[in-house]
Amino acid sequence: MTRTESDVLVIGGGIIGLAVAWRTAQRGLRVTVVDPEPGRGAAQVAAGMLAPVTELQYGEEPLLRLGMASNDRYRDFVAELADLTELDTGYRETGTLAVALDSDDRAELRELHGFQQRLGLESHWLTGRECRKLEPMLAPGVRGGLHVTGDHQVDGRRLAAALVLACERSGVTLHRASVTELLLTGDRATGVRLSSGERLTAAQLVLAAGPQSHLLPGLPAGVLPPVRPVKGQVLRLRIPERYAPFLSRNVRAVVRGQHIYLVPRADGELVIGATSEELGYDTTVTAGGVYELLRDAHELVPGLTELPLVETGAGLRPGSPDNAPLLGPTSLPGLVAATGHYRNGVLLTPVTADLIAEHLATGAVPALAAPFSPSRFAPKAAA
Ligand code: GLY
Repeated sequence: MTRTESDVLVIGGGIIGLAVAWRTAQRGLRVTVVDPEPGRGAAQVAAGMLAPVTELQYGEEPLLRLGMASNDRYRDFVAELADLTELDTGYRETGTLAVALDSDDRAELRELHGFQQRLGLESHWLTGRECRKLEPMLAPGVRGGLHVTGDHQVDGRRLAAALVLACERSGVTLHRASVTELLLTGDRATGVRLSSGERLTAAQLVLAAGPQSHLLPGLPAGVLPPVRPVKGQVLRLRIPERYAPFLSRNVRAVVRGQHIYLVPRADGELVIGATSEELGYDTTVTAGGVYELLRDAHELVPGLTELPLVETGAGLRPGSPDNAPLLGPTSLPGLVAATGHYRNGVLLTPVTADLIAEHLATGAVPALAAPFSPSRFAPKAAA
């Protein structure tokens, strides 16, 4: 039983796969997404920080450019989604405050500030007193911080719901099923087999299956490097009216070498993230994970112990070998990758969708995508 209906078939309906499908359908191509539960995945757990400047790492300037390009598109991207779906994605232009809790953190943040300034990024050094003036709930011991006015937030769950509806309203076929095998014709990827036995074929396929991407049966060896799962545990607290606003912007720090961040949403939710654990595909919420998050968050904002804890959860970030995404055509003709976004999936959704849709519609690899070609991991030929 074969159905041949699509120009493009997207394997994986997380926010990356859905956004790619939506943007590609806008280009006039017939698109199908295959996923048992479109809109599920890491976005259901993510805090949704849009933080290319505060999460800047040495040696990752191409990733910074990609992150900045995506951040710049966010306002229009969510406005377009809202026009089409009448759904609010919870996008908020709050800015972010990254604070230091001791003199070592302070020295590290000072260094990051210097690096940001050399790259011409918008970031302001504040004293501890100035930090507490912006965010009075911060611990009295805060030693200083960086105010990054362009690093914002979006609600991953609302974003996923809006993307599902945007796909439906743009003519994308959402096929709620599991893919069991990638199908090849000669040396070309031409379709997938589903758990029902049904086969779907398409002119081009997009692999957007997060940390499952390289495990797809039928995928020839060496086409994709391993995309490892990096577990993140996250807590959700509720800010009662009487404590509002509690925090007015994203607040983050590095405590005992671990990133901790607090993301206050307009609807009163306060998201605390995230652990970073390399334990395979396990998504158990552990007492130790919850303890560490609460302990570190409490050091930053002691008053949060008064707030109701309403949810705990764990998700899997898809990490490539160099922690940068895999974007564009693979060495297998017919197969395009859009995966490996690691800590930046929510941030990189708009730019990934635009770049991959451009490639699918024109065959060209946009310049912004070139540094993220999956072929960068191909074994080099002997000289
Ligand atoms: N981008 C934040 C995280 O992955 O924890």
